[in-house]
Amino acid sequence: YMNYRVPRTRKEIFETLIKGLQRLEYRGYDSAGVAIDGNNNEVKERHIQLVKKRGNVKALDEELYKQDGMDLKVEFETHFGIAHTRWATHGVPNAVNSHPQRSDKGNEFVVIHNGIITNYKDLRKFLESKGYEFESETDTETIAKLIKYVFDNRETEDITFSTLVERVIQQLEGAFALVFKSIHYPGEAVATRRGSPLLIGVRSKYKLSTEQIPVLYRTRNIENVKNICKTRMKRLDSSTCLHAVGDKAVEFFFASDASAIIEHTNRVIFLEDDDIAAVADGKLSIHRVKRSASDDPSRAIQTLQMELQQIMKGNFSAFMQKEIFEQPESVFNTMRGRVNFETNTVLLGGLKDHLKEIRRCRRLIVIGCGTSYHAAVATRQVLEELTELPVMVELASDFLDRNTPVFRDDVCFFISQSGETADTLLALRYCKDRRALTVGVTNTVGSSISRETDCGVHINAGPEIGVASTKAYTSQFISLVMFGLMMSEDRISLQNRRREIIHGLRSLPELIKEVLSLDEKIHDLALELYTQRSLLVMGRGYNYATCLEGALKIKEITYMHSEGILAGELKHGPLALIDKQMPVIMVIMKDPCFAKCQNALQQVTARQGRPIILCSKDDTESSKFAYKTIELPHTVDCLQGILSVIPLQLLSFHLAVLRGYDVDFPRNLAKSVTVE
Ligand code: F6R
Repeated sequence: YMNYRVPRTRKEIFETLIKGLQRLEYRGYDSAGVAIDGNNNEVKERHIQLVKKRGNVKALDEELYKQDGMDLKVEFETHFGIAHTRWATHGVPNAVNSHPQRSDKGNEFVVIHNGIITNYKDLRKFLESKGYEFESETDTETIAKLIKYVFDNRETEDITFSTLVERVIQQLEGAFALVFKSIHYPGEAVATRRGSPLLIGVRSKYKLSTEQIPVLYRTRNIENVKNICKTRMKRLDSSTCLHAVGDKAVEFFFASDASAIIEHTNRVIFLEDDDIAAVADGKLSIHRVKRSASDDPSRAIQTLQMELQQIMKGNFSAFMQKEIFEQPESVFNTMRGRVNFETNTVLLGGLKDHLKEIRRCRRLIVIGCGTSYHAAVATRQVLEELTELPVMVELASDFLDRNTPVFRDDVCFFISQSGETADTLLALRYCKDRRALTVGVTNTVGSSISRETDCGVHINAGPEIGVASTKAYTSQFISLVMFGLMMSEDRISLQNRRREIIHGLRSLPELIKEVLSLDEKIHDLALELYTQRSLLVMGRGYNYATCLEGALKIKEITYMHSEGILAGELKHGPLALIDKQMPVIMVIMKDPCFAKCQNALQQVTARQGRPIILCSKDDTESSKFAYKTIELPHTVDCLQGILSVIPLQLLSFHLAVLRGYDVDFPRNLAKSVTVE
């Protein structure tokens, strides 16, 4: 938040920053921090004060007021403060790892970051070789050190802040939204993004100089860290800037999400990938390296019409719906920096040091509860195939009830979105006591399960707010498949299969989008079904887990009775339930179980059942017997479950809405079950 010629007390500045963070708390957080100006006097004499705290924003707020020498009443005509809540991806949640990250003990440059820098290890090695000392385990700290490196090696004294940032981002791989502050550029701000969202709100009671900010293009690109100090920034003139005319009093709000700033202004500029936005002397300019002739030459100031609540959920009516629709990105984030589609290799950094030990083990035991358990069921077959090891999948509570024998040459996986589920945590401790190697697969860095396991995989799905788990399931699924691929890298006989699966992974985000476009059709189906009392979901093979997971989604948010049935078990009991009235969803995919699923279909239609079939687009056989079909794009057999679960997630959502229930907070359930 920057106020330029708008006098604000320090207390008001704190409140704006803290309120902004609180508006983003719904995304999940584990720590928070701010950087503000420390002294009370002249802009040029201020230092940067960092305050960071593990825990929630309230804890940070309390900490702010405890700082020495902080006169709350002192007024700043111009001030730039930055604040951040963190959901850890690298390093446990604590004050050192939280943001802002700094370049050095003197806080010359500080930065806040959303996203993941995938080449941070190489950059860190480079910077360490140049004598820069790191204090945190984060990828973000590399950015703070890198900008100082560029500054320390600048070729001219008058290098601009935004030029430094431009040089920094040319070295970064991955996703980021960044905001920088520096003692070398007092009263100036620079922000940039690639892959992660970033917008700028503008507020002024004076007319603004323009409604369209022309983008300054630069044609050079600089490839190499060693060459990064060779270019100069073009001088800005006022036609390339946005500012308030009149006495030029203006405030700028940088945020990753409009909900953080909407109470201050609804006038916003959305930055595009690789835009560098800089504010100096109350003037905002945007520049970038030109990519193609068709690049948009300006950024418009837009007026947001949305309510706060609506913005938090995007255009969705519930977090669960938002999270279902996020899956093209969340599965991509799970794979980002890990799957190399050129070399057909997979590298899970958190497991690589233990790979030898895992390859020597007697068996794999994959343990979880609810949806996380279903992710284990869904990947069991491909894990058996790729690792050539026996794989047991276990519900944590039952695993403990049975006092299951565990040995020191077992490898035990613990799958948990929250990383805090009591049953799973107790199973982990049980396996540790028996000296097995323990592996966590969680969505929460710093959670109990991620801390107590020997090694692990972070699924990087982003915070999941809806109680019914959706995007975590597909990301857990992919994480386990990636593990199988990593294990089989040296198996010559599996190379074709590995290539096929990696190829399938690559196209998943696009195929998920295609499945999501069926939403309206699924809504229509929900309209037919929502008054029913019961719903059966049937399938086998790779898609048995889809049925279990679909039925769980339906029961937990619609309160309808729903059962996932293994089609192979049909004639051993469940067939008795089938009649004209009972709605049955059948998952039939073009995979090795196709013919057997056709048998089940015959058995259902012979009892006058009216099956709703989830099938492949090219399947003309099943559709002949269907009451309704939902046709899905085809992918590799072992990945098909990622696509086939999505219509069931959507169906459960629509059924719950039509039945009038609160989708995000189903009765009797909690997001994180920390009791046995
Ligand atoms: C279902 C659901 C639960 C969780 C289960 C385990 O939608 O959310 O079944 O999957 O409570 O939770 P985590 O994955 O946090 O261990």
